[in-house]
Amino acid sequence: MNLLRTKTIEQSIADTEESEHQLRKRLGPLELTVFGVGVIIGTGIFVLTGEAAGAKAGPAVALSFVASGIVCALAALCYAEFASTVPVAGSAYTFSYASLGELIAWTIGWDLILELALGASTVAVGWSTYFADVMEQAGITLPASTFGPAPDLVPNLVAPVIVLILTGVICLGIKVSSQVNFVMVVIKLAIVLLVIFAGLFFIKSGNYSPFIPPAGSEAASGAAPTASLLQDLGLASGAFGISGIFTGAALVFFAYIGFDIVATAAEETKNPQRDMPIGILASLGICTVLYVAVSLVVTGMVDYRQIEIDAPLAAAFRSVGQPGIATTISVGALVGLTTVMMILMIGQSRVFFAMSRDRLLPPAFSKVSERFGTPIRTSVTTGIVVAVISAFVPLTELAELVNIGTLFAFILVAVGVLVLRRTRPDLERAFRCPGVPVVPILAALAAFALMLNLAASTWIRFFIWMALGFIVYFGYSARHSRLVTDPNYSREADETAATNRGA
Ligand code: ALA
Repeated sequence: MNLLRTKTIEQSIADTEESEHQLRKRLGPLELTVFGVGVIIGTGIFVLTGEAAGAKAGPAVALSFVASGIVCALAALCYAEFASTVPVAGSAYTFSYASLGELIAWTIGWDLILELALGASTVAVGWSTYFADVMEQAGITLPASTFGPAPDLVPNLVAPVIVLILTGVICLGIKVSSQVNFVMVVIKLAIVLLVIFAGLFFIKSGNYSPFIPPAGSEAASGAAPTASLLQDLGLASGAFGISGIFTGAALVFFAYIGFDIVATAAEETKNPQRDMPIGILASLGICTVLYVAVSLVVTGMVDYRQIEIDAPLAAAFRSVGQPGIATTISVGALVGLTTVMMILMIGQSRVFFAMSRDRLLPPAFSKVSERFGTPIRTSVTTGIVVAVISAFVPLTELAELVNIGTLFAFILVAVGVLVLRRTRPDLERAFRCPGVPVVPILAALAAFALMLNLAASTWIRFFIWMALGFIVYFGYSARHSRLVTDPNYSREADETAATNRGA
C-alpha cells in the first residue's frame, strides 16, 4: 500500500470538470470577502472575549488577539498560495492530497471535521443561549433544558432546529446562501461597529490598569480557567502575566477560524487565481482590526474581574446603563452566529464532497443535484451530524478542540506549500507566498506554539479523534481510494503533469 501516493494537481482540476461533479462558479472577490467575514466574526468575539479577558489575559486580551492574528496571517499567506494554485473544493484536504500524499490528506480531511462540523455545533449551542437571552428580553422565558448546554445529557432542542433550517437554505444553492449571508454580514458588521463607537464613550482609563495583570491574579467570576499543556509541563506560569496573553491567544484563536474556509469555495469562484488571495487576506485583515478594537473597548468599559463570561459585549453595555444597546447587540449576535454556522456547514459539506469524489468516503456523497447545483446528500448528512452533536455536547471545551484541529491543519498546509514548491516548481502560482521558506516555517512553528497553549485534556481528545480516523482510513478508505480502484483514473493527468514538469 502506497501511503504517500499523491493525486496530481492536474487530476484534481480535471475532476472538477466532470459533469456529475460540477459545482457552479458564481463567486467573486467581494462575495468571498463577505463570505470570509461571515464565518470569521462569531462566537469568538461575541462570547470567548469574556473568558479570555476575565480568566487569562485581562485587558491585554487585545494583545492576545494581535498574537493570534499574526499566527493566522502567516498561515493565510500559505492558504492563499495554495488556493490560487489548486482551485478545487476541499481546502487543506485537497492541497495536501496534491503535495503530501493520501495518508496526510486523509488526516487533514478527518481533522477538518473537528474544525467545521464540531465548530458549527459549538456555534449552534452558543446561538441557542443567545436565542434564549433575546426571548427573555421579549418576556418569554424558555425552560433551560430547551437551549442547553447539556450537562446531564438533556438534549438541547433549539440548536438542532436552527441547524436543520440552515441546512435547507444551503441545499437551495450557494448563490442563495451567499445572498442570505450578505444581508446578515452587513447587520453583524453594524453591530460590531456599534460596540466600538458607542463603547468609546464609556471607557474608563482606570480599567486598563494593570493592563497585563500579574500571574496568579484573581479571575472573573464564572470563569473556569483550565491549565495549558505548557503550564502542566511546568514550562509557563498560570493565567495572566505574559504567558496569559498566549493562553488567551490560543482561546481567542477560535475567533479567527474561517478565513481558511474561504478556500473551500475555490471551485465555485469565477477567477480563483486572483479572487482567492483577495478574499482570504481581506477578510482576515478586516476582522483583526475589529477584534483588537472591540476587545480594547470592552475591557475599557468594564473591569476585567467583573467581565461577564457568557455575553460580555451586551453585558458591558448593560453595566453602563445602556440596556437598549445591549439588546441590539444580543439580536445582532444571533444574526452573526447564524452566518458562521451556515458557512461552517457549507465548508464541511464541500470537504466531504471532495473526499467522496476521491472515494475515500462512499461515492454517494459527491453527487451534485441537477436542479440546485449543490451536493445535496453531503449537505443533508452534514446538517444531521451537526444537529445531533449540538443537541448533546456542551460548548465550553469544544472550542479548544476545534482550535487544536484547525491549528494542526495550518501546520500541514504550511509544510505543503514548501513541498509543492520543491516538487512542482513548474505550476503557475497566481499568488506566491512571500519569504519562502521562512514564512511557511514560521507559520508552522507559530501554530504549534499556540497548540502548546491549549489544555492537556484537549490534546488527549485530539489524539483519540485522530486515532479513530486512522481506523477508518485503513478499514475503508485506503482500499476504496479512486487512485487504487480506477486504473485509468490518473493516467492521463499523470502524463500531463509529467509533460508540465518537463520530465
Ligand atoms: N470564527 C468563528 C467564530 O468566532 C468560528 O464563531
